Amino acid sequence: VGQNLVTLKEVDSTNNFLKSILSNSKPVPDGTVIMAESQYAGRGQHQNTWHAQPGKNLTFSLLLKPHFISPTQQFDLTRAVSLGVYDALQPLLGDDLKIKWPNDIYFGNRKLGGMLIENMIQGGQIKNAIVGIGLNINQDNYPESAGSAISVKQILQRDYDLKDILSEICSHIEGWYLKLKAGKTDLVRSTYLSRLYRLNEASEYRSNWETFTGTIKNVVDNGLLVVERNGTEEQYNLKEIEFLN
Ligand code: BTN
Repeated sequence: VGQNLVTLKEVDSTNNFLKSILSNSKPVPDGTVIMAESQYAGRGQHQNTWHAQPGKNLTFSLLLKPHFISPTQQFDLTRAVSLGVYDALQPLLGDDLKIKWPNDIYFGNRKLGGMLIENMIQGGQIKNAIVGIGLNINQDNYPESAGSAISVKQILQRDYDLKDILSEICSHIEGWYLKLKAGKTDLVRSTYLSRLYRLNEASEYRSNWETFTGTIKNVVDNGLLVVERNGTEEQYNLKEIEFLN
């Protein structure tokens, strides 16, 4: 992952760019990384836009061809990629780093970054996975809408070389991806769970317009979040539950 690196000055979205070169006839090698200094239409989860100060943050997409993962198990890819990003940043940031379900990277209660994974399914298999990752590295100010965002610089009081961090991320993602490929799915699942934000901690959620106190208990194989609520366990998908703080 990352051997074939393309750096763009400006693009709408690195996910879109990768998608468009895939639909041209030339083959794109597995592990290709498209990085942009700036995106003018960066996309996030839930149809949100993703903002990043030009040149200060990591915004990139990588191409994987996980033919060995069946579409029903695609959350394993989310787990492996999240763990790769986690392991690349953990030596810098320590154990306050967490993975917030499904795939946000948190430091304490603040968001360092996230990902947008778009799987292209064909003939019952994941033909291409476009893994878009946005991480706040050297950003020092944010628009109001950024909510709980924080950058590595704000935590550690120094600037970091984007390409150095990118190469750490690529090698750790590759490591977890190869574990998945080697059938070590249980290890991927249990490690993901052990890094999870708010696991076994009561907190506030919203689902179907009601707010409630619940406790995350698990993430099941297919990626649904298991929350205990008044003594019963309920499973939620990304559209059904929202963290309130
Ligand atoms: C989120 O937390 O909402 C996911 C953010 C994902 C942003 C990255 S930046 C690189 C790639 N290109 C995009 O348009 N989005 C992802």
